[in-house]
Amino acid sequence: MQTITCSAPGKIYLFGEHAVVYGESAICCAVDLRTQVRADISDTIHISSVLGDTGLDYDKYPYVSAVIENMSEIADIKGINLRIDSNIPVGSGLGSSAAVTIATIQALNLLFGCGLGLEDIATLGHNIERTIQGAASPTDTYVSTMGGVVMVPLKKKLNTIDCGIVIGNTGKFSSTRQLVSNVALLKKYYPQIIDPILSTIGRISITGEELVIKKEYEAIGRLMNINQGLLDAIGVSGPELSNLIYAARSTGAYSAKITGAGGGGCMVALTHPSESKQIASAITQAGGEAIITRVTENGVKVEQ
Ligand code: MEV
Repeated sequence: MQTITCSAPGKIYLFGEHAVVYGESAICCAVDLRTQVRADISDTIHISSVLGDTGLDYDKYPYVSAVIENMSEIADIKGINLRIDSNIPVGSGLGSSAAVTIATIQALNLLFGCGLGLEDIATLGHNIERTIQGAASPTDTYVSTMGGVVMVPLKKKLNTIDCGIVIGNTGKFSSTRQLVSNVALLKKYYPQIIDPILSTIGRISITGEELVIKKEYEAIGRLMNINQGLLDAIGVSGPELSNLIYAARSTGAYSAKITGAGGGGCMVALTHPSESKQIASAITQAGGEAIITRVTENGVKVEQ
């Protein structure tokens, strides 16, 4: 085999971002937005996407460069030509870095016969994200590898959810590394205030598990909205996100909250499927870019 294309999905959090970095529970869903990586064996290293063409380049392609270097320790990679295409907005809290990392690992794994299983892929992906971001929970890389709805840190697969999911992108770049380090500072200065907030977020996820199993979307929505209040309290919301969140809520969404690191990036609303379009247009009118999507059970896979 000389060439292969693999893809991996992005994700949204129902509950638990940031708290999960400190070992609290979170529930995260793979969504039907994907990054594709086509890999061709070559004599040199070449990486290309809409971001530009380059060789091994930690400024432009930190995750992909780290995958190539890490996998060169277990495979004889003399050269590789990688083409990345994605419909996951970059730096927006939808797990674009996890998706490109996981799709690249699987492409090289299969092309060079490394024999990595899905758990190995998720673990290597997590190590790479942690190295590049400074701190990262295993959530994004695990969900992108396995697909579906997952409770972490137990890595417990839950049933799928079939309500409408509408994402609103503020278009403002969000640095996960920066936001995670802001929360770490706040936690360091005010542990007696911030620690209980993080553990309450964890308890929201634990309470939410049963509701996900029963598909009680209105009750899930109530908990998501409480979670949003706590994310605001730890400083990861902002005017652009709040604007889209309240536009979605006032148009009848079950819930609307940040998804991912916050600061900018995306919010997510759960809706009755028949109301997704109406909520999407409220988000657009409020200045966001709306994406209607759904949960996917497909984690990393080979594209035909
Ligand atoms: C980023 O998608 C989610 C955070 O909880 C960071 C992490 O889990 O690594 C903010």
